[in-house]
Amino acid sequence: MLDKIRALLDEISVVSATTREEVEELRIRYISKKGVINQLFSEFKEVHPDLKKEVGKALNDLKNAAQDKINALKEAFEAGADGQAGLDLTRPGDSVHLGTRHPLAIVRNRIIDIFGRLGFTVSEGPEIEDDWHVFSALNFAPEHPARDMQDTFFIEKNPDVLLRTHTSSVQIRVMEHTQPPIRAIFPGRVFRNEAISARSHCIFHQVEGLYVDENVSFADLKQTLLYFAKELFGENTKIRLRPSYFPFTEPSAEMDVSCSICGGKGCNLCKYTGWLEILGCGMIDPNVLEACNIDSHKYTGFAFGMGIERITMLLYGIKDIRLYFENDVRFLRQFESAI
Ligand code: PHE
Repeated sequence: MLDKIRALLDEISVVSATTREEVEELRIRYISKKGVINQLFSEFKEVHPDLKKEVGKALNDLKNAAQDKINALKEAFEAGADGQAGLDLTRPGDSVHLGTRHPLAIVRNRIIDIFGRLGFTVSEGPEIEDDWHVFSALNFAPEHPARDMQDTFFIEKNPDVLLRTHTSSVQIRVMEHTQPPIRAIFPGRVFRNEAISARSHCIFHQVEGLYVDENVSFADLKQTLLYFAKELFGENTKIRLRPSYFPFTEPSAEMDVSCSICGGKGCNLCKYTGWLEILGCGMIDPNVLEACNIDSHKYTGFAFGMGIERITMLLYGIKDIRLYFENDVRFLRQFESAI
C-alpha cells in the first residue's frame, strides 16, 4: 500500500496538462469519487492496524498533494500564468480579413487579360508630360480648346509641363521608339481640371490601345472591339460605332455596347436607349504617324481609349465615381470575392 502511495505521489509531482480537458482528465483520474485515491481509501480498512497510522497519514498527504496539483493546473489555465495558459484550442478562431483588390484594378486586369489574348503587350508612360506628347504630336491645333487651362493641369504655370489629360500620349512615346508592327495597350492615370461630382473626377484611369502595321483596316478595329466587348460584357453583347471626332484619328468613332442590364430593350441605366457608350476610337491620322517617323504610306493603324471608372460602374452598378477614391472599407470589401 505504501509503495502504491509513493508511486502515485511521484507521478502526481510530474504530471502536466496542455489543455483544460487534460486537467479535467487528471482530476477524474486522481481525486474524483471513482479516482485512484478514493480507491486506496476504500482499501484502507484492510490495512494492518499497526500500520494504519502511517498509511493513513501518507494517504492524506497524497490526497492533498493531488488536490493542490489539480488546483494549480486549473489556476494556470484561468490566469494565463504560463505560455500555454489561457489557450483554448476549442474556441472559434478570430476571422482575418483578407485584403481586396480595388474594383478599378480588377477591371483593368480583365481588360489587360482580354487584349493579351489577342497579342497586345502592355506599356506605360509618364503622368507628367510635355505639350508635344499630349497635344502637338497628336495633331491638336495650337488653339485647340483641350489645351485650355480649363481642362489641363499645368505645373508651375509652365505650358510645357503638364499632367497628361489622356493616355494617348503613350501612343506617341511608343511609336517614337518602335517601328511597326506595334500591338500594345497602355493603362494609366489621367488628370483633368474638372469639378468633382458623382459622374466626373479630376483624376481617373484610361486604357489606350494601339495597333500599327501594313494593311490595318477599320474592319480590324471593329472586329477587335467586338471581341473585347463580348469578352468583358458577355457573349450576347452587340456593339455600334457612331461617327465622332478626335484630332488624332480619322475617321473617328465612339463605341456603344448593348445595355448589359436590359439587353437593349431600354432601362434606367441606358436611359432607355438600349446602348451604353464606352470608348473612343478611330484610324490613326497620318499626321500622327509622320510625327513619330512612321511611314504613313506604308503603315496604317487604329487606336482606341476607354475610361476604366465608367466601365467598372457599368459592370458593378456603381453610381458615384467618388466611391473609388474614398477608400471606405465598406465599399472595398464588397469586391472580396472578385479576382
Ligand atoms: N484620348 C481620347 C480621350 O481621352 C480617347 C481616344 C483614344 C480616342 C484613342 C480615339 C483613339 O477621350
